[in-house]
Amino acid sequence: MTVSVTAGAAVAVPLVDLRAQTAAVRADLDRAVGEVLDSAGFVLGPAVAAFEADFAAYTGRAFCVGVDSGTSALHLALLAAGVGPGDEVVTTPHTWISTSWAISYCGARPVFADVDPATGTLDPAAAERAVSARTRALLAVDLYGHPADLDRLQAVADRHGLALVEDAAQAHGARLGGRPAGSFGRLACFSFYPGKNLGAAGEAGAVVTEDPALAARVRRLRDHAHERRHHHVELGYNARRDGVQGAVLGVKLRHLDAGNDARRAAAARYGELLADLPGVVAPAVAPGADPCWHLYVVRVEDRDGVAARMADRGVATGVHYPVPVHLQPAYAALGHAPGDFPQAERFARTCLSLPMFPGITTGQQRTVAEALRAALDVRR
Ligand SMILES: Cc1ncc(COP(=O)(O)O)c(C=O)c1O
Repeated sequence: MTVSVTAGAAVAVPLVDLRAQTAAVRADLDRAVGEVLDSAGFVLGPAVAAFEADFAAYTGRAFCVGVDSGTSALHLALLAAGVGPGDEVVTTPHTWISTSWAISYCGARPVFADVDPATGTLDPAAAERAVSARTRALLAVDLYGHPADLDRLQAVADRHGLALVEDAAQAHGARLGGRPAGSFGRLACFSFYPGKNLGAAGEAGAVVTEDPALAARVRRLRDHAHERRHHHVELGYNARRDGVQGAVLGVKLRHLDAGNDARRAAAARYGELLADLPGVVAPAVAPGADPCWHLYVVRVEDRDGVAARMADRGVATGVHYPVPVHLQPAYAALGHAPGDFPQAERFARTCLSLPMFPGITTGQQRTVAEALRAALDVRR
């Protein structure tokens, strides 16, 4: 996945603006990265350990284990949850593909269930229908920064003796029923890919959990499954976090809530600007959910045409995600066909991500709304 940044003069409103976000904390970043360089704590080390403590507290968890990406976080979390060859993991087809990769890396089979038609997150009733004797875990995604229906999914997991794992890769600082994203399930996973609400200056991820044994297992798996030096007790991985990313994330964590508040204000403003626009389905917020608006995703017919016409007016948009996972060529062997998960496929066909970042101005949002209105008018 690539991240769009402010491009040339032709772009009036970028999808995200990473350079501005970095500039706002540049002096603190320079100092923190300088400390890593001076101490040569390049891999794991004190900066990563400090971030782990801070982020565990932020998510309300006892333990946080820093890893090299969100994909590794999911992979190692599922291994720690006991997922292995022959197992099935029930998950959503409307997500970034890493959710599903992680299941496959464990030698298990992703079993998809359709999504809620309003929020696009895993539908608990559909997930329960997908449970079989082989199911080991449920893997739910807090899509676009909106928490999945995690209380009901936990109830499904409890009824069937399954582990619930929360893919909170897009949900830093989101809340459900007052609880932070990442505090649900047996383990939860985060990505700190640069475009995320909490983004590194490179690749990084984390697993959080309450369970000391699971935390110890993930900690071991990320570093070649060392129990002590030169004793490798199982198949291990190199999924260690760089010290520099620990330092960068330590600085940026202090600004996460302010950035999320700015996103919430921008989402509310979009709600007003788009309220009278026929043909636009605004993002739904479930009762009790307080999304962190990683993405602001509307739904429109003729999505690709609308996006192209908005681009002509200098407004960048994104599509997250145009091809549902069950229809990806990589998963052809699962034998799915169009129509298997109609709600997920509807999202894939109609979803359009509008520019969303903490520094977006009211003027830029008006430009986006005007471009969207004009793009829709052409269609009529
Ligand atoms: C829902 C979801 N899961 C997993 C990941 C994987 O994270 P990473 O790109 O850090 O490997 C991402 C990030 O792109 C994501 O959005």
